[in-house]
Amino acid sequence: MSKAWLVFMQSVPTFILLCYGFGIIGIAMASDYTRPGPGRVILTQHSDSGSYPEQVHVSAVGTEYMRISWITDDQSMPSKVEYGKVSGKYDAVAKGESSRYLFYVYLSGKIHNVKIGPLEPDTVYYYRCSGVGDEFSFKTAPGSLPVEFVIAGDLGQTEWTNSTLTHIGKLDYDMLLMPGDLSYADWHQPLWDSFGRMMQPYASTRPWMVVEGNHEIEALTFFGMAPFIAYNHRWRMPYEESGSNSNLYYSFNVAGAVHVIMLGSYTDFGSNSAQYKWLVADLAKVDRAVTPWLIVLFHAPWYNTNTAHQGEGESMRVAMEALLYKARVDVIFAGHVHAYERFTRIYNEAENSCGPVYITIGDGGNREGLALDFDSKHKYAHLSLFREASFGHGRLRVIDSKKALWSWHRNDDSTDTVRDQLWLLSLSSSSACQGGTKIKDEL
Ligand SMILES: *[C@@H]1O[C@H](CO)[C@@H](O)[C@H](O)[C@H]1NC(C)=O
Ligand SMILES: [Fe+2]
Repeated sequence: MSKAWLVFMQSVPTFILLCYGFGIIGIAMASDYTRPGPGRVILTQHSDSGSYPEQVHVSAVGTEYMRISWITDDQSMPSKVEYGKVSGKYDAVAKGESSRYLFYVYLSGKIHNVKIGPLEPDTVYYYRCSGVGDEFSFKTAPGSLPVEFVIAGDLGQTEWTNSTLTHIGKLDYDMLLMPGDLSYADWHQPLWDSFGRMMQPYASTRPWMVVEGNHEIEALTFFGMAPFIAYNHRWRMPYEESGSNSNLYYSFNVAGAVHVIMLGSYTDFGSNSAQYKWLVADLAKVDRAVTPWLIVLFHAPWYNTNTAHQGEGESMRVAMEALLYKARVDVIFAGHVHAYERFTRIYNEAENSCGPVYITIGDGGNREGLALDFDSKHKYAHLSLFREASFGHGRLRVIDSKKALWSWHRNDDSTDTVRDQLWLLSLSSSSACQGGTKIKDEL
């Protein structure tokens, strides 16, 4: 036998072993993933003077305006935003309004809200708040498809929140949608300030559209503290523009093709409620020929096989599910449960090809940690297609009027890994579901 052949023969077992070894390594890597415990809370300080803007965040107001929100400790600072398309050169200026609130013994800083525009789509603007301090910049959402949403729920402000935010910031996106539970301040108001500071590097650069969760309620009835005081002051959303009279539910259009509805799980939703009547009117205005995509967010999930928060979304589901089904909502995002779960298309507790896809994305990283326990015998278990208790965030890339790509990014031992991915087809493009005109007659 030639020497070369011998070498080859000797290396065959090595080769097989190597493959086998890699196989094991592959499996070992998957099972080696250490499911993290709750992260340490990160307190973010403001080190500049009291006149210096802090907690800067922006939200879209219609498709041509942006609301800039920030806080100054110094009460004399003006609610003024200078802005323009060239860094350091502000050829426009807008003035707005300010408020502050008293929460038991805590007095907030001066909360400024200034609406700027009209702005061009898909354009970077540079801006400065109160005439002092750092320059910020944001990019407006595109005027037409494609558009990319980041969806992150139950963020809080821990090391895992930091990891989620780092992953969100690493890949570009156009707008962030958040189905509730922001700061986990839980009555301790300085944590709202700390949260605002931690979000600023992200929330000042892309529009962040949020809706309330249970952690935003913070009622202290005994002391006359109404619910949502901090949330409504600090995270002012564009509700009037959609005919809503409450910051707790509203809707808006993005990229001329996506209608987004934010619903309130913690305000009245029964058929006589203002929210219900508003939703009926809002859905009636949706023209799927113009906005082929219809997506809805709220906090407490209607479909959930995790043992955490069982049944909490049930009365809202009973009240509103038929409305959303008849409107052919494409996908519904919820939070609340600190895990990820994706369902099939559902209506009335059964698979239905014209119902929305339900996704729970409450895994942003808050201090309460993960909801680890999924019930494989749950009555909805056969409708649940993917579930995992890990921190992470989601991305919905709407490509055109028919196709969108959903992906779930897990904070895999702090690196960003896509664990679940799915192509969605809009229901407006499905002749079987008769997206469009006939729906309005059903409503
Ligand atoms: C947040 O994450 C970044 C990037 O991974 C890291 O450099 C930074 O130290 C983290 N901050 C804290 C307070 O953990
Ligand atoms: Fe919650």
